[in-house]
Amino acid sequence: MEQTYANVKDREKDARQVILRVVNLSKNFGGIKAVDNVSLDFYTNEIVGIVGDNGAGKSTLIKMISGAYERDSGDIYLDGQHINVENTTEAIKLGIETVYQNNTLVDHLDAPKNFFLGRERVTNNILGRLFGFLDMKSMRQDTLKTLQNLKIELKNINAPVKLLSGGQQQSVVVGRAAYWKGKVIILDEPANNLGVQEQRKVLQLVQSIRDEYGITFIMISHNLEHVFGIADRIVVMRGGKVVGVKKTAETSRNEIVSMITGALDI
Ligand SMILES: Nc1ncnc2c1ncn2[C@@H]1O[C@H](COP(=O)(O)OP(=O)(O)OP(=O)(O)O)[C@@H](O)[C@H]1O
Ligand SMILES: [Mg+2]
Repeated sequence: MEQTYANVKDREKDARQVILRVVNLSKNFGGIKAVDNVSLDFYTNEIVGIVGDNGAGKSTLIKMISGAYERDSGDIYLDGQHINVENTTEAIKLGIETVYQNNTLVDHLDAPKNFFLGRERVTNNILGRLFGFLDMKSMRQDTLKTLQNLKIELKNINAPVKLLSGGQQQSVVVGRAAYWKGKVIILDEPANNLGVQEQRKVLQLVQSIRDEYGITFIMISHNLEHVFGIADRIVVMRGGKVVGVKKTAETSRNEIVSMITGALDI
């Protein structure tokens, strides 16, 4: 059967299902404990903001989840299964997609080719079966349909993605994750380097995908306005540790800032 987001709705039935669990994750660089014994649960259908000062360990934490870094110790469970992701390609196959500033798209390929990268569909005839002829037409149609459903506007889906704006490129990654039934989408500073309009569009896209497909988002951001605008929960990191997890509705910027700076410890 074709993989689309047909079953994703099932995950919405139980809004509090743990989709990703990390237990006692640690990572050292030389003498630095970049991530120090972090345990967290992430649920379906939620956006979790991760905040903290420079060097708090946010990127290192998510890189262990996305397969970019090997962890020193600890365990990761996706949908109840213990997983060892050795690289980002493997993570994407499992349903963990990451949007970095320098994203995971291949620059010189267009959006449909990026959508189906490593999962190309061959024509349903002898040419496909024998010679692996690609069914570009159906791949383009599916890409276009997905982009339209998500209200992602690209002037020309046949253009290499390097010609798209930063926000559009991020939208293609997020759209691809939705199409392939991604379980967790990680965004590291998604709005960095984007114009105000583009920032708004990416944040709206994140919200609408959470609502429609029940996908979990983990969003690292220094922008508390963005975090308070869309996150359901906020995780605060400091010195490689998680120093607080709050429901957005039950905290304030002052409290979060105090946790980021350590003022609450005094
Ligand atoms: N590849 C690396 N090699 C050596 N040290 C690293 C590496 N990556 C991160 N670190 C160190 O680990 C610590 C945590 O860094 P990390 O990038 O995870 O922080 P961050 O919270 O993402 O910060 P920022 O908000 O500045 O992006 C820092 O002290 C950093 O210098
Ligand atoms: Mg970082």
